[in-house]
Amino acid sequence: MSATVITGLQWGDEGKGKISYLLCRNADCVVRFQGGANAGHTVVVSGKKLKFNMLPAGSAAGAMPCIASGTVVDLDEVFEELDLLKSTGINVKFMISRAASIVLGLHKKLDAVIEELRGGRAVGTTRRGIGPTYSDKALRAGIRIEDLLDEKSLKDKLEILKKVHGLEVEDLGRLMEYGEKIRPYVGDVGLFVNDLLDEGKKVVFEGAQGTLLDIDHGTYPYVTSSNTIAGAACTGCGVGPTRISEVVGVMKAYSTRVGAGVFPTELGGELGDKIREAGQEFGTTTGRPRRVGWLDMPLLRYAVRISDVTWIAMTKLDILSGLEKIKICVEYDVDGKTVKIAPPEVRFLERAKPIYMEINGWGKMSDESWKKVSERGWEALPDEAKAYVETVEKLIRKPIRLVSIGADVGLEVTK
Ligand code: IMP
Ligand code: MG
Repeated sequence: MSATVITGLQWGDEGKGKISYLLCRNADCVVRFQGGANAGHTVVVSGKKLKFNMLPAGSAAGAMPCIASGTVVDLDEVFEELDLLKSTGINVKFMISRAASIVLGLHKKLDAVIEELRGGRAVGTTRRGIGPTYSDKALRAGIRIEDLLDEKSLKDKLEILKKVHGLEVEDLGRLMEYGEKIRPYVGDVGLFVNDLLDEGKKVVFEGAQGTLLDIDHGTYPYVTSSNTIAGAACTGCGVGPTRISEVVGVMKAYSTRVGAGVFPTELGGELGDKIREAGQEFGTTTGRPRRVGWLDMPLLRYAVRISDVTWIAMTKLDILSGLEKIKICVEYDVDGKTVKIAPPEVRFLERAKPIYMEINGWGKMSDESWKKVSERGWEALPDEAKAYVETVEKLIRKPIRLVSIGADVGLEVTK
């Protein structure tokens, strides 16, 4: 039996999609356990780009996709992505939890309205209705997958929702149509996954967003509306903590953040633009340019600690090619005190002055030479690139076992 949780160690967009694909090649099942269509997970297989917002990206590797109770579901996306999987020749068995929440048109509208209300304090959400759907769930006024299968109950619940918000809600008939379409896939994902683990099967839990966007453990209020840390796999799916065999933390070789909020190592100016362009750092879901910065050890150490990460996959190392010097923030100076591990508290981080170490970069490399590196393995990386990875490993005190050096599956080395 093995249960692997994949979790993002930064602000999302670490490249979890590709890592999930790699880990799912010999997995039986892959589970999305939190978030919704705010996520954008991309996998490039033989030059073909596959984008997922709702289904776990690991399903492209053939593992059976499941969407668990802790998610907020955009059903149009689910059906579209099931079609995408079918078009790639994958025979899709799929299960969605009867208890997953449904994002309604109303929630997307509210997301936009609330963002406007916040004015200068807007979170910069993806406007996918994530926050309002989770808040209706917490109010016990939400619509769940199971409600779509029961007309009477759905009608009552929509009436309540209408009164709660004083706004028009989705048409009952339209939702019942969704219900008919989703019915064959509805099940108890928690029980199903526990059974798989009992049978000795391999399950991957594919996290979305990243640690610093966790609603309880991130830079609140500039966060998403779910728990994103590894522990959320247990609550979101319904498996006990002792069933998890390993936690894989995914980190990008530099930092990015999309949306508002504190970012101590943010890089402005030309260098920031250069990395943004090289890394194509524009949101998968919204197309927004991402903010770019150096690695931030105090925050990474925090992320590694609260998810008790077993090992790390580093992505996009290739993007740093051609930089003369690369900086790593090793600690902060906060009001004259040295801080090695930082709580992601906004007021604290606003006072943090990053202390950097500088290491030598390596030259630009052609696609062809990266391909050769992936064929020859770790030793074939430029010495400075190896030194960068090894430095990060020492600073973070966790093994970096996998390094991704290009978007396509195949462009990676193991260490
Ligand atoms: P929401 O999740 O749409 O409510 O957005 C809240 C914050 O999380 C915003 O800063 C978003 O940009 C950010 N966010 C949400 N999902 C993702 C993601 O998948 N990757 C990166 N940032 C995200
Ligand atoms: Mg993304």
